[in-house]
Amino acid sequence: MTLPAAPELSLERTRDGSFTLLANALDEPYHSRHGALQESMHVFIRQGLLAHSGRDLDVLEVGLGTGLNMLLTWLQVIEGRKEVRYLALEPRPLDRDMLRSLDHPAQCGLPVLQEPFLDLMTGPEEEPIGTAVPFRFTRSRQGMEELDAEQAFDVIYHDAFGPRVQPDLWTDAIFQRSFRALRPGGHLVTYCAKGEVRRAMQRAGFRVERLPGPPGKREMLRATRPATP
Ligand SMILES: C[S@@+](CC[C@H](N)C(=O)[O-])C[C@H]1O[C@@H](n2cnc3c(N)ncnc32)[C@H](O)[C@@H]1O
Repeated sequence: MTLPAAPELSLERTRDGSFTLLANALDEPYHSRHGALQESMHVFIRQGLLAHSGRDLDVLEVGLGTGLNMLLTWLQVIEGRKEVRYLALEPRPLDRDMLRSLDHPAQCGLPVLQEPFLDLMTGPEEEPIGTAVPFRFTRSRQGMEELDAEQAFDVIYHDAFGPRVQPDLWTDAIFQRSFRALRPGGHLVTYCAKGEVRRAMQRAGFRVERLPGPPGKREMLRATRPATP
């Protein structure tokens, strides 16, 4: 008897009550099992978006995945803290049913955003989608290794799968590309705090800070492109 193939992705509830996905073949979750929402809010929003002094920002996300970082950024815009143009790279977009089952807007306290959020996540690719608020969202199937941008972003959310499963996204070449894509004074944030990753960022020219991590993780990294060479 042949068993049915195991599903590629499974839904998992994390310790703060919010959902993530597990990429079964890689045994890699999309977020921290200690709390998906807590991790996104701490690493990408507080230490990334809100830590930048600018009000009108260009944000690049490496790995849109379930869209949690995008949703939390959008909420900051709705609350009037920032205006954002957001480019999200995702070679393997998730389908609407999977995104619906994650229930991110309800977990963020705004279930009314479920359909508009799903529309953004599954709408046209490679072109900006405007909304009623000053938030312009573009998603692209491009991988980070293909991005060719020069001083185009203020903040990068580096949210790739970890170096154990996707080492190609944590190399000197990738961080040189990120460095070039950032404006001087801009920063890249990531949940990963590995020494080898920090040193690759430094070799690319970044000034790197080790910051306290989200609940359950000791540290995270913020890499800044110095304002003066
Ligand atoms: C840790 S998950 C991202 C979690 C996501 N930010 C969220 O809020 O749900 C990593 C994502 O990176 C995507 N990815 C894989 N290869 C990539 C590449 N070359 N460039 C950019 N993203 C990639 C994966 O498909 C996956 O969705």
